[in-house]
Amino acid sequence: MTELAGKHIVLGLSGGVACYKSAELTRLLTKAGATVQVVMTEAAEQFITPVTMQALSGRPVYASQWDAREGNNMPHINLSRAADAILIAPCSADFMARLVQGRADELLSLMCLARPIERVPLLIAPAMNREMWAHPATQRNLAQLAQDGAQVLGVGCGDQACGEVGDGRMLEAEEIFEELAAFFAPKLLAGQRVLITAGPTFEAIDPVRGITNLSSGKMGFAIARAARAAGADVTLVAGPVHLATPRGVRRIDVRSAQNMFQAVEGQAQAATVFIATAAVADWRPANSAEHKIKKDGSGQVPTLAFVENPDILATVAQSDRARSGALYCVGFAAESEHLLAHASAKRARKGVPLLVGNIGPATFGQDDNALLLVDAQGHRELPRASKAELGRQLVLEIARRLRAMSAP
Ligand code: C5P
Repeated sequence: MTELAGKHIVLGLSGGVACYKSAELTRLLTKAGATVQVVMTEAAEQFITPVTMQALSGRPVYASQWDAREGNNMPHINLSRAADAILIAPCSADFMARLVQGRADELLSLMCLARPIERVPLLIAPAMNREMWAHPATQRNLAQLAQDGAQVLGVGCGDQACGEVGDGRMLEAEEIFEELAAFFAPKLLAGQRVLITAGPTFEAIDPVRGITNLSSGKMGFAIARAARAAGADVTLVAGPVHLATPRGVRRIDVRSAQNMFQAVEGQAQAATVFIATAAVADWRPANSAEHKIKKDGSGQVPTLAFVENPDILATVAQSDRARSGALYCVGFAAESEHLLAHASAKRARKGVPLLVGNIGPATFGQDDNALLLVDAQGHRELPRASKAELGRQLVLEIARRLRAMSAP
């Protein structure tokens, strides 16, 4: 279950080509268990039909303040009172100006003005041409909207429908969805600086070959997303993976265990929580050949010698900051059997307060997983669920332990 399950979202569309993304956003929201009530301006109807939006949301669309379907003939009051949040996506330059001015001559702006401001948050996903976005009037309006309490979700950069390239595209449906879910998440890690390693490492044999493993990085990325949603400042050190960076997360890409070690050492000084989910190679080839190692036809196979990689987690866990309690360290153990015994032994060996065990073959590359949390008090199972859900549960468990540590 995401934070959006059971939430009632009033999705307002103003005029813009990006209206097509709002169709997909509606699907994502309803799939996550939210109910979506669509309200459209006249201009939005030029870009997408109310028929499409009704079909996707499963609810009749509202477009007029004179809509007589409401018993009291006050759709602006009824719609805004029922909302857990109002999201304007796309929010055009004109609609932003209308919000700033408190205009109320059509249903969507009237409804935004009439919303109970303390109880019903207003989020906006702007969408416009890059010159319109950069214009001082738009930037002034943005600043004013933020000051008036709206949550501005930002814009994307890239190709625009007009053929120009730059800032001002509406965020993709998945990005808006992620921002909205993060908005509703309890801020359990507010003020924490969380450093996470994720994915495999790649240890070069020569310029075209190397040793790696089957870790996809999905668990670490899910934890990064959940930690950011919980209000933490998150840095993600990622090995070679094919995953999109979670919104609002600082990402440092690395390749080898040594690269990862360097990146972590640089960041750990500022972190308050370190979560080592990466599947770091234990050994690397002692020498990486400068050129491709060639088969010479003699039938002789090359011999590889290995040296041990630094243990990133154990090193960080032994640092002064970790030992003084300023940095809380969490390790992972990917095992194939005897999970509790191996995880408990690994917790002691690494010197970390919390060790999370999982079964390697059952998690690598999968979208779901099951976790076994082992700490000084004992162990606790987090049963099989999506990695997104397990990321949220792990964040909750870590927040609980941080609170207990700081309690007098
Ligand atoms: O020793 P093992 O690889 O089983 O330990 C797994 C845990 O230690 C994981 O949290 C992993 O990220 C971390 N680790 C590390 N550096 C290594 C090896 C493992 O940080 N060289």
